[in-house]
Amino acid sequence: MSVDYVLQTTDLVKEFKGFTAVDNVNLNVERGTIHALIGPNGAGKTTVFNLLTKFLIPTTGQILFNGDDITQMRSAEIARKGVIRSFQISAVFPHLTVLENVRIALQRKEGNSFHFWKSDKILNKLDARALELLESVGLQDHANSITVDQPYGRKRALEIATTLALDPELMLLDEPTQGMGHEDVEVVADLIKRVAQDRTILMVEHNLHVVSKLADKITVLQRGAILTEGDYATVSADPRVREAYLGVAEDENDDAGDASEAVEAKETV
Ligand SMILES: Nc1ncnc2c1ncn2[C@@H]1O[C@H](COP(=O)(O)OP(=O)(O)OP(=O)(O)O)[C@@H](O)[C@H]1O
Ligand SMILES: [Mg+2]
Repeated sequence: MSVDYVLQTTDLVKEFKGFTAVDNVNLNVERGTIHALIGPNGAGKTTVFNLLTKFLIPTTGQILFNGDDITQMRSAEIARKGVIRSFQISAVFPHLTVLENVRIALQRKEGNSFHFWKSDKILNKLDARALELLESVGLQDHANSITVDQPYGRKRALEIATTLALDPELMLLDEPTQGMGHEDVEVVADLIKRVAQDRTILMVEHNLHVVSKLADKITVLQRGAILTEGDYATVSADPRVREAYLGVAEDENDDAGDASEAVEAKETV
């Protein structure tokens, strides 16, 4: 086996009272890549994420992380192993500063939340690391600002910084650009590209412009099953993918922007 997979699923199935939300999904996420999971509303993307992060238990099938079977492990256990989902820690404290939020995430990783307040030395060390992380997401000038006052794009950047604080080997992002204006989308897309340097990212993303810009590999889900996968050029040339998205454009009014942008993005390839 020449390809190095950080995450694999075998015949992953999730049923809800007889309804198959995830249907025999075999996902292979290669180390060091950005892998996107796309598909129309209700395709099963979030359910797959919930299975991967143990918010849900699969009906059948297996999940392997670095070759180890993690199917039966709990959420906290796989987090310790390095599988981190961004929104798990995005419950940032709104009335603390940007820096304090990253410091708390670092503390969580170190697991020394009670001792470190007592030691200036550890506190300074954590602050230095927190500042480094803020710099990596472009927030260094906002370190001492109160989180709640920050614009949306900056909050998402902070969320990514707090995820990075846990030093994830595999970072799971569920719609990182959701609800963002055009400018913020570009900023966050660049940011994801930057933080992807030395880790693997699996992301659910509706915005196909972002997907085209970031993803090395794309898996398209439809009605719980994999419709097709490949790089952007391959996937976007597939008439079945186009059809799936046009369906979304007709049915979902509030997603119309995303969907038409998606189709546009496809047409430019
Ligand atoms: N807890 C649940 N109980 C019953 N059905 C569920 C449950 N969670 C999800 N489903 C169903 O499973 C299917 C897949 O849902 P899921 O949220 O995974 O889709 P999605 O691809 O994330 O969609 P979206 O793009 O809207 O976020 C949907 O038909 C949904 O109604
Ligand atoms: Mg979803």
